[in-house]
Amino acid sequence: MSIRHYLQFKDLTADETGYLFQRAAFIKQKFKAVEKYQPFADPDRTLALIFEKASTRTRVSFEAGMYQMGGSVVHLTTGDSQLGRAEPIEDSARVISRMVDLVMIRTYEQTKIERFAEFSRVPVINGLTNEFHPCQILADLFTMVEHRPAASGNPLDAIKGKVVTWVGDGNNMANTWLQAAEMLDFTVHVSTPSGYEVDAKLAGIGDKSCFKVFKDPKEACKGADLVTTDVWTSMGYEAENEARRKAFADWCVDEDMMAVAKPDALFMHCLPAHRGEEVTSEVIDGPQSVVWDEAENRMHVQKALMELLLLGRLA
Ligand code: CP
Ligand code: NVA
Repeated sequence: MSIRHYLQFKDLTADETGYLFQRAAFIKQKFKAVEKYQPFADPDRTLALIFEKASTRTRVSFEAGMYQMGGSVVHLTTGDSQLGRAEPIEDSARVISRMVDLVMIRTYEQTKIERFAEFSRVPVINGLTNEFHPCQILADLFTMVEHRPAASGNPLDAIKGKVVTWVGDGNNMANTWLQAAEMLDFTVHVSTPSGYEVDAKLAGIGDKSCFKVFKDPKEACKGADLVTTDVWTSMGYEAENEARRKAFADWCVDEDMMAVAKPDALFMHCLPAHRGEEVTSEVIDGPQSVVWDEAENRMHVQKALMELLLLGRLA
């Protein structure tokens, strides 16, 4: 079997993404029933987790997920490995991938993870780069399907035609939403302050009809099935913090914005959140918010992703 990497959302096809959601539902049901599901136990499979930026959810979801599936984990950070002492990324890839079965990386530029993947003998998963956060969007869409399933039972039918509103920075999350929209046939309403717009080329999409740009974030929320946002300052951009606080002041998801979305609209945030900045407490802690399911689902979709990359399609 040739190596499959998951560096961007579009590295799986729509069909494979639908399959992954079905597997995630099966794997989640096993977890909830406290039943063993250990396809990585014999032979034991090892996952290397490489973090060049901080993490809570990504680390816990991959690490707990891998152990629950019967495998093992090696955890590396820039500070405690040669990665922080200028060893070429190509050499790190050659060495690490000779000893483990799978690698997840959280880093800065997308080109860095691409270089690692080029020299890796094993599949590489993007655990967040400056440009993309594909595992998070898998979890977000899976959460949407769980809360608003299609009558057909097909997860892709629950996503097709939906309106997702993005309020805030044209960042890694926004870019990944655009890729997902192009592939799975839904529309993203994007509202960012000027200077922080999304860029179709950077997002890696060919068809601009999958998103619409709105100056006013409230206008963008009209008719939305899902309203979602993220921090004003992503990791790696901390030097811009003050300028961003001023520029983003009106891009706070509040109850007025939720009121113009569909009555059954959901609210999501990849977390960590800053209440009073990009979202009010009333919204994130309110009845339309599904952020805790969204966070938990990181683990279930990533288990399905690791299964697909290591074992291929099982059904
Ligand atoms: N959403 C997310 O990726 O969270 P962490 O930064 O805690 O991993
Ligand atoms: N956009 C945020 C997401 C954190 C999970 C960041 O890159 O810091």
